[in-house]
Amino acid sequence: MGYIHPVVEALTLLLALYVLLLGLNRFSANHLGRKGSFAWKRHVNLGMLALLLMLAGVGSGMLSTALLWGGFLVTGLHWQVGLAMVPFLVLSFLTGWTMHRNKKKRTGLPLVHGLLGVICVAMAVVQAITGMKMLV
Ligand code: HEM
Ligand code: HEM
Repeated sequence: MGYIHPVVEALTLLLALYVLLLGLNRFSANHLGRKGSFAWKRHVNLGMLALLLMLAGVGSGMLSTALLWGGFLVTGLHWQVGLAMVPFLVLSFLTGWTMHRNKKKRTGLPLVHGLLGVICVAMAVVQAITGMKMLV
């Protein structure tokens, strides 16, 4: 039971890294003038899945901690970074969704969205490190 959250979120991090890789192709086309194909639909679908799974990770982590240890918000940096991720996950989703629903040539919003995505992935890496320390 206590392994569901770590396993699901570790896989989610791999998924998010792949989504970031797809996004970086778009970045080099948008800002560096390189030609490259962008798997738009795949980026949007897998991106939504990754962000939703990370958001759900906040709930599943707290539930799991409550069941295992009879209380939650007890893991120090892990819960603090976990909760701090929420606004970044939501904004990353909303900016992506806006650009998906209303397609047009843009430079500013993709940059903001890309930066938010990088922040989410970086925070998820921190979660993997602090999370692993709790498991070993
Ligand atoms: C782990 C989650 C995500 C990461 C790391 C991520 C990262 C990125 C990056 C780096 C770019 C390129 C930005 C640029 O060219 O300046 C991008 C573009 C884009 N992303 Fe995401 N993204 C994520 C999730 C999503 C989601 C959930 C959606 C939609 C609901 C989405 C929709 C888009 C769209 C439509 C573009 C192209 C925008 C344009 O060039 O006009 N992304 N993303
Ligand atoms: C985006 C990713 C993640 C988020 C948002 C997240 C969030 C959380 C939160 C909020 C808690 C509750 C802590 C508390 O109440 O004190 C928790 C518990 C926990 N997390 Fe994470 N976490 C993530 C990824 C990971 C990863 C990748 C691992 C391990 C590799 C991990 C391992 C754990 C462990 C071991 C617990 C204690 C409960 C249990 O054993 O299931 N987490 N997490």
